[in-house]
Amino acid sequence: MKQNLRIPGPTPVPDAVLEAQSAPMIDHRGTEFGEMLRETTALLAGLIGTSGEVFLLTSSGTGALEATVVNTLSPGDRVLAVTIGSFGDRFARIAEAFGADVERYEVEWGTAADPARVAAHLAGNLPYRAVLLTHNETSTGVTNPVRELSAAIHAGPGDPLVLVDGISGLGALPFEMDAWGIDVVVSASQKAFMASPGIAIAAIGERARAAGDTARMPRFYWDFAEARRWAEKGQTPWTPAVSVLFGLRLGVERLTAEGRERTWARHAAVAAGAAAGLEALELSLVAAPADRSATVTAAWIPDGLEWGPFNAAMRARGLFVAGGQGKWAGRILRFGHMGDVGIDEMADAVQVMGEVMLQMGRATDPPAAVAATRRAFEESLAGVAG
Ligand SMILES: Cc1ncc(COP(=O)(O)O)c(C=O)c1O
Repeated sequence: MKQNLRIPGPTPVPDAVLEAQSAPMIDHRGTEFGEMLRETTALLAGLIGTSGEVFLLTSSGTGALEATVVNTLSPGDRVLAVTIGSFGDRFARIAEAFGADVERYEVEWGTAADPARVAAHLAGNLPYRAVLLTHNETSTGVTNPVRELSAAIHAGPGDPLVLVDGISGLGALPFEMDAWGIDVVVSASQKAFMASPGIAIAAIGERARAAGDTARMPRFYWDFAEARRWAEKGQTPWTPAVSVLFGLRLGVERLTAEGRERTWARHAAVAAGAAAGLEALELSLVAAPADRSATVTAAWIPDGLEWGPFNAAMRARGLFVAGGQGKWAGRILRFGHMGDVGIDEMADAVQVMGEVMLQMGRATDPPAAVAATRRAFEESLAGVAG
């Protein structure tokens, strides 16, 4: 049975990327590696919209969040963590673990942060050294208006650093690091970049680089100064996940060949299809249309359907979706659609889910839901083209 992996990461790895990842090992201090590192980071910079530095760290995305904190901050620094879900909470906890004086600005789960309110909060408080933002909150299927939030933060007292968790958005959602004034953004190989887990991506702007000179949080493995010193030689300080980098290079090349606008439009259209399909199955979506993510769609589990058996029945049919996290465990389900995804996979997911719901006694019409999925996808693409 073919599996339809519709969790929000790790995402499906295309065959060509899988093949690239199984190539023979090379010397990570040799020229071939250096060329691969330089090419991959240069292409990533283009995708992210920065002329600044991009480092590849051997870790999952959380490692890059930690690297961001320890390379820009000192113990006792005032930090505002704008959190709209469980990944925003994690970013806050990392900063706390290293001794930052973290204040949480909590937004109701399922909604995005409002830039005007964040601006008012900043204006009414002592300056913060940094503000932590989540670009795309994977736990709720909500995308923050990062551009507007960043503008509000820069206008606030002390012009805090803008540190962004872009793990489930970068490469799939519109992002212009330099134009939006983002100081650091991070992501990871297993999300929109279509490779296996193992490499985190950290893009560092000029202000963040300067902040590193005075940041006093302890660091060793994650030290950006070390990463910089070795990147100049086409190397990483420590042994990198070479095989994952073979795959990441190909994933990044594919996104570059597709072109950022087309990639963004594809993700938006698949998300439109997902929303329409789920609504046709009479699920209600967590986020309001304006806040909805184009990489993760979250919906409430209908009353009377128990998540355990429902999920088990979908898995038995090869459909793998994610459940809720934290306080939303057992209450929502989440579809990932980032990276190597088109409307066929989403339509198949809607079909299978609808059939499982039928089996479980719900009056659904899977073919009609699939038709709604495809129609919304086409309409979204046509809207972009027009
Ligand atoms: C927004 C966000 N932040 C952080 C993480 C954690 O990343 P990782 O599991 O790669 O450490 C994830 C993973 O799903 C995420 O989606």
